[in-house]
Amino acid sequence: MEEKDQVIKTLTGSADATKMLSLVSHKLRTPLSIINGYSEAILSQSAKEKFSPFTAKALEEINKQGTKLCDLVDKLLFFNKVENLQPKDLAKKHINLKNLAKNCANDAISHEEEINTMPETATISKRGTFIEIDSPSNLEIKADEELLAFMLEELMTNAIKFNNKAEKVIKVQCANHGDSISISVRDYGAGVRPQDVNKIFERFYQVDDYFTGQIDGWGLGLTIVKKIIDLHNGSISVISDRGLGTIFTASFPVA
Ligand SMILES: Nc1ncnc2c1ncn2[C@@H]1O[C@H](COP(=O)(O)OP(=O)(O)O)[C@@H](O)[C@H]1O
Ligand SMILES: [Mg+2]
Repeated sequence: MEEKDQVIKTLTGSADATKMLSLVSHKLRTPLSIINGYSEAILSQSAKEKFSPFTAKALEEINKQGTKLCDLVDKLLFFNKVENLQPKDLAKKHINLKNLAKNCANDAISHEEEINTMPETATISKRGTFIEIDSPSNLEIKADEELLAFMLEELMTNAIKFNNKAEKVIKVQCANHGDSISISVRDYGAGVRPQDVNKIFERFYQVDDYFTGQIDGWGLGLTIVKKIIDLHNGSISVISDRGLGTIFTASFPVA
């Protein structure tokens, strides 16, 4: 384990670290919003064509990286919030799973387009990403909607992100098994190596980019997903094969 990882692991275990994470994230959020707000405002001005190609490119890059940083800070803040939640804190209500999955799929796809601001890759991801949702129309689950939405969007975003196929097909399946409800997200992307399957739920763990071709992010998404599932008394399983793709299945008991 690298020294950096050890420091992070020690820090994230203490109450002081929780406070520090929250403080640092909040302090970063304000200046970042200002940077992004101004760069967006300048970019959206009608006089944009007056910029030299270099200035236009520089502004786009400032905006792209600023948005990326904001997303990272938001994830850190959300991680901090969810880490400190207990089952009694959940705002549970009946949620229609098909509608929720559709909304999350829209968000996951538009997020992907934002990441790829290069015109050629944006076109590919726009045309080439399909999220198919297979769920009974009336299937409901009693859960915290914000948290369940995070779980679904994170699994879909990962399915898109760790996938370098020109055409990305993601299949989301929701099913009622009587005493439990399952939600699975399947991709045909890079897959997870057997030695990494358990590690990917650990804080800050990311498989090296040589294998997945992607290292953006914190390595916190699945840690948050696991915590959300635990808070709902559920479980998660992973079936994966290198090069063939991955199926993440979350199961929730029917109360
Ligand atoms: N659908 C997937 N296919 C292949 N690898 C995945 C998939 N989902 C997650 N992973 C691996 O698990 C790691 C941890 O995922 P996550 O916690 O969401 O962090 P992040 O998305 O910030 O890298 C990723 O870095 C990646 O290596
Ligand atoms: Mg992720």
